[in-house]
Amino acid sequence: MGLSLAQEMAARGYRVLGTGRRAPADLPPDHPLDTYLQADLSRPDEVAAVADWALAQTGGRIDVAVLNAGLGYYRPLTAESATDIAQVLRVNLDAPLQLAHALRPALAGGALGLVGSVAHRSAAGMPVYAASKGALDGFGRALAEEWRGDVRVRVLHPGPVATGMSERAGRPRNLMDSLFLSPRAVAIALLDALLARRGPDRQVISFLRVGRGLLIRGLTAGGR
Ligand SMILES: NC(=O)c1ccc[n+]([C@@H]2O[C@H](COP(=O)([O-])OP(=O)(O)OC[C@H]3O[C@@H](n4cnc5c(N)ncnc54)[C@H](OP(=O)(O)O)[C@@H]3O)[C@@H](O)[C@H]2O)c1
Repeated sequence: MGLSLAQEMAARGYRVLGTGRRAPADLPPDHPLDTYLQADLSRPDEVAAVADWALAQTGGRIDVAVLNAGLGYYRPLTAESATDIAQVLRVNLDAPLQLAHALRPALAGGALGLVGSVAHRSAAGMPVYAASKGALDGFGRALAEEWRGDVRVRVLHPGPVATGMSERAGRPRNLMDSLFLSPRAVAIALLDALLARRGPDRQVISFLRVGRGLLIRGLTAGGR
């Protein structure tokens, strides 16, 4: 989804910076990033390095930050390892919290999007992932209240998206997979939700919402 978000941001005229674990040479050829930093967000020192780099690259002024990196495992709690539990909580919760903290001055007048998941309400088979996204939801809503009037904070919860994350998490494929949303459609709906001046602090990027957004875009494009 990160690629689709970056492409959609670039299409809307933003200069886009990105980070990830993969080496620069392994980025997809159609990525639109102006600059990229390889960093592992499960390591606190690398989270701090990402914040320093983002501040230096932007001259301390960030219009929109989307904290999208995340992972999870489809397994019962008793089958989890302490290392994997810590990794999921670090990447999905600690890193966004620390990045929001460090980037706060640069975000004045801008928008911060936290990418949650409908799993924040619970997710059978993924208790650690659900816990991380549930806590991110609480964090985002509290922060939206605290920064209201200065930084727009929204916590955005997509439904299932066809990115391959589900397979990487270890969930067996089933018929439901054919209903997964396209990353591009979700990226568009997510950015529309984040960039709109008005709207709730917490929003679900549902099938219905994505479909409605595509329909409106189709009608608008058709009417030109
Ligand atoms: N797919 C879904 O069904 C779904 C539904 C709801 C919400 N979400 C959320 O949407 C976000 C994106 O998910 P996705 O479906 O695009 O998953 P994905 O294809 O597995 O991509 C995960 C992204 O997170 C980055 N990442 C993972 N671990 C990292 C680490 N330790 N340090 C730095 N970056 C790391 C990856 O970068 P590298 O590849 O470079 O490591 C990649 O950009 C996540 O927060 C996920 O929880 C996904």
